[in-house]
Amino acid sequence: MAGSRGEFSSRIGFIMAAAGSAVGLGNIWGFPTQTASNGGAAFVLVYLVLAFCLAYPAFMAELLIGRYGQANAVTSLQKMSRTVFHKRFAFVVGFGGVICAALILSFYGILAGWMISYAIEPVATVIGSDEAASWVIAQSLPRNIIFTAIFMFLTVFVIRRGVEDGIEKWSKRLMPLLLTLLIILIAYVFTLEGASEGLNAYLNPDISRVLEPDLLISALGQAFFSLSLGTSVMVIYGSYISKKENLVTLGAQVTFIDVSIAFLAGLLIIPAMYVAQAQGVAIFAEDGSLISGSGLVFTVLPSLFESMGAMGLFVAFAFFVLMSVAALTSSISMLEGPVSYVVERHNIERKKATTFIGVLIFLMSVAIISNIGVMLDFIATLATEYGQPIIAMLCCVFVGWIWHRSEILKELQQGNEQVENTLFWKIWPWYTKFICPTAILIVFVHSL
Ligand code: PFF
Repeated sequence: MAGSRGEFSSRIGFIMAAAGSAVGLGNIWGFPTQTASNGGAAFVLVYLVLAFCLAYPAFMAELLIGRYGQANAVTSLQKMSRTVFHKRFAFVVGFGGVICAALILSFYGILAGWMISYAIEPVATVIGSDEAASWVIAQSLPRNIIFTAIFMFLTVFVIRRGVEDGIEKWSKRLMPLLLTLLIILIAYVFTLEGASEGLNAYLNPDISRVLEPDLLISALGQAFFSLSLGTSVMVIYGSYISKKENLVTLGAQVTFIDVSIAFLAGLLIIPAMYVAQAQGVAIFAEDGSLISGSGLVFTVLPSLFESMGAMGLFVAFAFFVLMSVAALTSSISMLEGPVSYVVERHNIERKKATTFIGVLIFLMSVAIISNIGVMLDFIATLATEYGQPIIAMLCCVFVGWIWHRSEILKELQQGNEQVENTLFWKIWPWYTKFICPTAILIVFVHSL
């Protein structure tokens, strides 16, 4: 059955695709931004701990649900259900994840469109079209609609091709490109004056801050967003993994790549901010904190690139291409969630379903763009601060409380016969049952 519905052809194919989903604007923009606004290295430390101790177990739960069910999130969860109540609950959780992925894509596509437009600006400058250069980076309705449409077109283009020919092939091409660009940019920024001061701010934690509630909440939210949890995406990617693979190590490898790239992105952005400061750019807001959010990516960094002269045009281009590539490998996974649901549950052909859902999500983006001041923040908060944690928590509840322990073990043993004797099996089931849902709930309630 798996063969007819698509499967990753190799282990590396899955790793690239899942890491591609995980590594996105959240790593390269969100993580450094959060680090900047939460006191630097203390945030990095807490993030690393929470990513491995809370996000990884929840990530494993989602992968396992998918690999067991060999289907979209709703069908997979329903296969684990024994009673009518469980089945209804499965529908709410699975479908909630699908909707969450669609909502995220509707605003993520707009941000990704900005990345493409900022990558085009230096090109327009080089070819002497100053008017076009200023148009692409100025906020306007037509600019936002055009670049969101371009980005959605690319996303639909990949997903129409299916698992192996689309998701896997493109993730395998784009992820190495992303890593190469990131390393080149870090190496370059490190040669500039001010970088070592930034490195110090990034790597020297102020231990007294690590238990601050706001810092903890931001770090956990960031870790969940980064691993694409609570969106049905990792369930569906799990369903495309061969039964011969060892899920425990695959999950750990993807988490490690995701965390490492976030860490590398911080190694680029925070020193780059201090380099910008050495060149006269203001990097601290009025309250003394480092500038974060959109100001960082669209003001501080472009001022830095500008101060580099001709070289800056190339660096700006490379940086925004990096952002666009990272966004694309994530957006394809967001579209795969709803597409796989419609293909498998409503028997609609993949190409048709992809185009239809792509257009629908694009229309949602247009609605957001037309009232961007209010809607962008509203949808982002709804999907990432409410939707993702609630659904991720319910997936843990499913695995911990509804799925039988013996069945979980049987599924884990496929591709990992010795799992019963490992530390993972001694800790993880108990952890997913009690600690993960409780911790997510505490953080969620606190954030309210
Ligand atoms: N993990 C992506 C990032 O860090 O940018 C964002 C993301 C991808 C969220 C896929 C949700 C999702 F389903």
